[in-house]
Amino acid sequence: MKVISRALSLILIAGLISSCNYTRLKESADTVQNFGEVNPEEKATMMNYKFISSKIFEAKCTSCHGSSGNVNLESYDSVKASLSKIQNTVFVEQTMPKRGSLTSEEKRLLWNWIKIGAPLDSAAPPPEEEPLIATYDSIRSHIIEPKCITCHNPAGTGNKVGLDRESLLNSPLELVLPGNADESGLIIALERKDDKRMPPAKEGYSALKPEVIQVIREWIMNGAN
Ligand code: HEC
Ligand code: HEC
Repeated sequence: MKVISRALSLILIAGLISSCNYTRLKESADTVQNFGEVNPEEKATMMNYKFISSKIFEAKCTSCHGSSGNVNLESYDSVKASLSKIQNTVFVEQTMPKRGSLTSEEKRLLWNWIKIGAPLDSAAPPPEEEPLIATYDSIRSHIIEPKCITCHNPAGTGNKVGLDRESLLNSPLELVLPGNADESGLIIALERKDDKRMPPAKEGYSALKPEVIQVIREWIMNGAN
């Protein structure tokens, strides 16, 4: 009886120790994830093998992990093949680099690179958004389409007021008077402070920013082309 209960408590203790160990490992992996994300620019310039290798593998590993050792970290293919071991020794067990360390910045880069699948090349940078400029096309795509078209279309509440260039120039409401922004109905509608302001406050829209209206003014002053 005594023997059995002693055996049982040994098993229990062993179980406790290994589950503690497991939590500790998991926690350290979680902590590392808090090194932070990479921003889009870093993604475009640093998340590739060449950069990571020059910063980390060549700088901190290949003195020991050259082609002669059991884990070779000198080429993309061999790094790829050892990825889970690298992740484990650097982030979980934290035994590598032996006799050295990675800065938190280096860990952040390596962690993020592995997280997205350790790509050979960086993903293409996101297309830069074109800024608003004083042409009708630019004003249409930046302002009219996202903020006005829901109402100013043939089936919308603002259907009597067309906001295409021809309609603006030919409107009996004198919405656009080339060379005269102050008296153009469009500018008046955007700048007024009462409940007739466009886009309408009562529908939950906020006023266009002064610098945006300034570009529309510029477009009108330049002849509304
Ligand atoms: C000073 C020498 C040295 C440096 C620098 C070094 N390592 Fe190691 N590494 C070793 C030795 C020795 C072993 C094998 C014995 C051991 O695990 O201690 C090893 C083992 C490994 C293993 C295999 C572990 C396994 O489970 O088989 C990996 C993966 C590894 N290192 C990754 C790295 C990475 C990544 C770096 C750089 C950030 C690095 N090492 C830097 C000496 C080094
Ligand atoms: C929620 C619907 C709605 C949105 C969004 C909206 N409008 Fe209007 N707009 C109207 C309505 C309704 C009228 C009045 C039409 C009428 O009188 O028949 C109007 C009238 C106008 C007029 C004529 C003003 C006048 O003096 O009579 C202009 C110019 C105008 N809108 C421009 C815009 C612009 C530019 C935007 C986007 C920045 C915009 N609107 C967004 C509903 C909207």
